[in-house]
Amino acid sequence: MQTIKVNQVDWQVEIRESSEDTGPVLLLVHGFPLDHRMWRHQLDAFENTTIVAPDLAGFGGSRLPKSPFSMESLADDLAAVLDTLEMKQSVVFCGLSMGGYIGWQFWRRHRERLAAMICCDTRAAADAPEVARGREMMAARVRSEGSAFVASGMIPKLFAARAIADATAEVQTTTTVIEGTKPEAIAQGQLAISTRADATAWLSEIHLPTLLVVGAEDQITTPEEMRGMARQMPKGRLIQIENAGHMAPLEQPAEFNQAVRAFLAEL
Ligand code: MLT
Repeated sequence: MQTIKVNQVDWQVEIRESSEDTGPVLLLVHGFPLDHRMWRHQLDAFENTTIVAPDLAGFGGSRLPKSPFSMESLADDLAAVLDTLEMKQSVVFCGLSMGGYIGWQFWRRHRERLAAMICCDTRAAADAPEVARGREMMAARVRSEGSAFVASGMIPKLFAARAIADATAEVQTTTTVIEGTKPEAIAQGQLAISTRADATAWLSEIHLPTLLVVGAEDQITTPEEMRGMARQMPKGRLIQIENAGHMAPLEQPAEFNQAVRAFLAEL
């Protein structure tokens, strides 16, 4: 893990630098309220590919910025991470769920850097008003009660039913990650997600090769919703992963990595 200064804030970034690499850098952007460890099965899976997997501001080992973050500010921070690391090659932006919301903003604000996108278990639509209200309530509650209730509420929605029933190592580790996430990062994350822009109208303008990946049992961003997104993206292709929920890269890494490897080889 490296600590780097990004817009005056200390970020922790996991890096795998390939000396033989001439292709794009693979930027792995985690979901909410997690950190880079959700990519642990991907970090060493792609030979000859440079990988950058940060903990977003406030999450994991990265510090919270002084002012509240947004999907826009996190997209700008990620561009600054690549600048600080002097990575000049083009980027394959791979984001899961909230990571995907940041990906739409990265495309809007830094599209000249992009070679392709991988959108995992994510959506383009903004929150309905009642969903946004629920997030405001969670933000208030986590500030007074701490992060544990967030873990117990979210975990059943993140994984496939079988993984929950078996309380797999991935379920247990993810529970520990959420319980360890700073309450203020969770509060700010919920508020930032609740006010994010609707990216639906942008989908038809994204002329980049795009791999969309969804777990067949994803209850948060469903296969049906992601199929609709793929249809709107000129170069979008959807892969559905069986026996996986919202955390497809963590739940079924062999299938996920194979899909990404084939996608990267085609670029
Ligand atoms: C995530 O996995 O990043 C969250 O489910 C995003 C969300 O709450 O919309």
